[in-house]
Amino acid sequence: MSTPLLNIVILAAGKGTRMRSSLPKVLHKLAGKSLLQHVIHAARQLQPSKIIVVYGYGGEAVPDAFRQEDIIWVEQKEQLGTGHAVQQALPYLDAEANTLILLGDVPLLNVETCQQLLAKTSHLGLLTVRKSDPTGYGRIVRDAHGNINAIVEHKDSTEAQRRIDEVNTGIMVVNNANLVSWLTNLKNHNAQGEYYLTDIVAMAVADGFAVSSETTVDESSVEGGNSKQDLAGLERVYQLRKATALMQAGVTLSDPFRIDVRGDLEVGRDVEIDVGCIFEGRVTLADGVRIGAYCVIKDTDIGAGTTVAPFTHTDQVRIAAQCRIGPYARLRPGTELADDTHIGNFVELKNAQVDTGSKINHLSYVGDTTVGKQVNIGAGTITCNYDGANKFRTVIEDNVFIGSDTQLIAPVTVGAGATIGAGSTISKDTPAGELTLSRSKQVTVNGWKRPVKIKK
Ligand code: UD1
Ligand code: MG
Repeated sequence: MSTPLLNIVILAAGKGTRMRSSLPKVLHKLAGKSLLQHVIHAARQLQPSKIIVVYGYGGEAVPDAFRQEDIIWVEQKEQLGTGHAVQQALPYLDAEANTLILLGDVPLLNVETCQQLLAKTSHLGLLTVRKSDPTGYGRIVRDAHGNINAIVEHKDSTEAQRRIDEVNTGIMVVNNANLVSWLTNLKNHNAQGEYYLTDIVAMAVADGFAVSSETTVDESSVEGGNSKQDLAGLERVYQLRKATALMQAGVTLSDPFRIDVRGDLEVGRDVEIDVGCIFEGRVTLADGVRIGAYCVIKDTDIGAGTTVAPFTHTDQVRIAAQCRIGPYARLRPGTELADDTHIGNFVELKNAQVDTGSKINHLSYVGDTTVGKQVNIGAGTITCNYDGANKFRTVIEDNVFIGSDTQLIAPVTVGAGATIGAGSTISKDTPAGELTLSRSKQVTVNGWKRPVKIKK
């Protein structure tokens, strides 16, 4: 049997009152990505023929956040209920397909669970969960044989129904031909005056179809992020899962409760990560990399055996093997460090390419600069790369020694093997192999007296 075509409809029109925010609920972030991004990411893994997102509150802000993506956007101008929301998507559904309905605010959705539900559904299937406190949820009403008869919303339920602990997650699969006919007959005669999607369950039963179901034991995978507290709770679940996966891959984490991964972190063997680190975007750590406490590492590749000491910040950087970085280093976009380079405390690099074995160990700013091999840049060296309007490059060739507290006024080239005397301001190219310095002669003023306090 070939699997039928799959359409996915994601409901994302709600306001999210409990977020107390002007940002639409589905744009709030979990692990650096919006809730809706997480749902779309999971949806894509199910390989649907199309993804339709129903948006509403916040207007174009939601589709605008996904301009790159191949998604059909359908506006629900007034939020008249979940059934009304799915009605907006009907014109875009394929005739011979099933539709999986997902919620844009349920970010930790489990793809395998959805696959299991899809596999067992022919006309209508529900993803359910048992809740110790089912208050507020739609209850799954079953007959004496355990067959599903209906979903009753909390506000429309009887005392007896309120004791049912199996609830609707909001995630369901429906055959499109059925979906069209059932949604067309939906009424809003209920406690909330809304068009309930959940009413299609009783319609399916009335039409003689068995309703299939999958019950998940993973509550967080069907939990909605409705408030800042919900988000914080889901974030911890997500981060602990990431940390567990890293440890399973062989990473030593000083504390799995104190790491945040906001993107994709790829690791080699024998990687060690101390507490309080944040990894953002795409980060790769090769074999034997050690990251000290409280580093923020974003869109960075770090080569084998490199050590990053505490409080280092990197963004769009490539670091090769066996380097020593930090503590307190700031590596900005475009920085590329070759093997065995040392970048020390309070050093800021921006768009600087530093070749093998070079050292910039203390209190320096090196921007828009090419640094050759085996260069030593003394403490407090600054490349003056900006004249207030334009940026210029500094070139420091192989084996150069730059004395401490030097300013290099770009554009300028320091020739191979040159030495620059400490405290120099270098504004012209300096010859290879020679000592160049620019400072006034030291003088002693004989007999000079310090000022004394004037008596009043
Ligand atoms: C819904 C279900 C309930 C289930 C619960 C799970 C219905 C009638 N009830 O209840 O059985 O237990 O979810 O959380 O379906 N939305 C729209 N447009 C609308 C209304 C809602 O896009 O007009 C979206 C919301 O943004 C949200 C989702 O649909 O993502 C669910 O809506 P919500 O209002 O939270 O439904 P509940 O009353 O919680
Ligand atoms: Mg809800």
